[in-house]
Amino acid sequence: MVIGLLAITAIPTVTGISLASSEQRKANQRKEDNRRMMKFNIQAECDGDTDDDRELNGMSVVVRNEKVYLADPNPSNRSPPAFTALAFYIEYPELDETKHLDRGLGLPTYVQEDPPLLNWIYADNETYELRYGNRSQSVEHVVGPWDWCKDERIISLEKKKKAFYAVEEKEGEWALYFDRDGDELERVLEEQGLLDCAFVPVTLVRRIVEEKPPPAQSQSQPQGEGQGQGQGQNGKAGQK
Ligand SMILES: *[C@@H]1O[C@H](CO)[C@@H](O)[C@H](O)[C@H]1NC(C)=O
Ligand SMILES: *[C@@H]1O[C@H](CO)[C@@H](O)[C@H](O)[C@H]1NC(C)=O
Repeated sequence: MVIGLLAITAIPTVTGISLASSEQRKANQRKEDNRRMMKFNIQAECDGDTDDDRELNGMSVVVRNEKVYLADPNPSNRSPPAFTALAFYIEYPELDETKHLDRGLGLPTYVQEDPPLLNWIYADNETYELRYGNRSQSVEHVVGPWDWCKDERIISLEKKKKAFYAVEEKEGEWALYFDRDGDELERVLEEQGLLDCAFVPVTLVRRIVEEKPPPAQSQSQPQGEGQGQGQGQNGKAGQK
């Protein structure tokens, strides 16, 4: 008797739970996507105790001339001038030929304000320097997966968060590199004749930016990288 009652009342409860959890999953996914799309600046953290570490600690990731650098957080103190990276995460729009690579999240950043233009940050396939460009410029290189670590603070590429280095290519000009091989960039810097440059390991940290009123175009999708393949349609193509 008692068992029978329990069995009957149990059924709707179980169904109720599984419905709720499927709704819950969707809601969680939406929440996750929204968090991924939150715009952030990127700050360098250096915990070493050399002068270079102290100089670079707290600097901002900036973009200029198709490369990614560290520079003073205050734009007016930058020479040469550079644009403060304003980035977020979204799936990289693979081409048909690269679909099988399925590199997951890309890291688009605004590279200018007016008109707003988005490009992808990537590590050059051969030199390992961080660069940015539209899809055709980036697709053959290391475009992802970019990610964050558990606390959503530290940025990683190909699951590595301790693989970023600032290299002083010229006096006072610190370019960012990705140590893909785990040899502290020895091979790639030697190939480029940069072994004598100062270099400092840096951690890249997200600094969430409050949303400003959107620029003229819809800013929730990286239209800018659409420059990679004719205007307009790529933002969509990237969404899968
Ligand atoms: C790296 O670049 C070379 C040419 O520069 C290309 O042949 C190769 O496919 C690229 N590697 C990846 C993983 O895309
Ligand atoms: C991608 O960017 C490069 C360099 O800015 C440019 O020459 C090229 O035309 C762009 N590609 C497309 C399809 O817009």
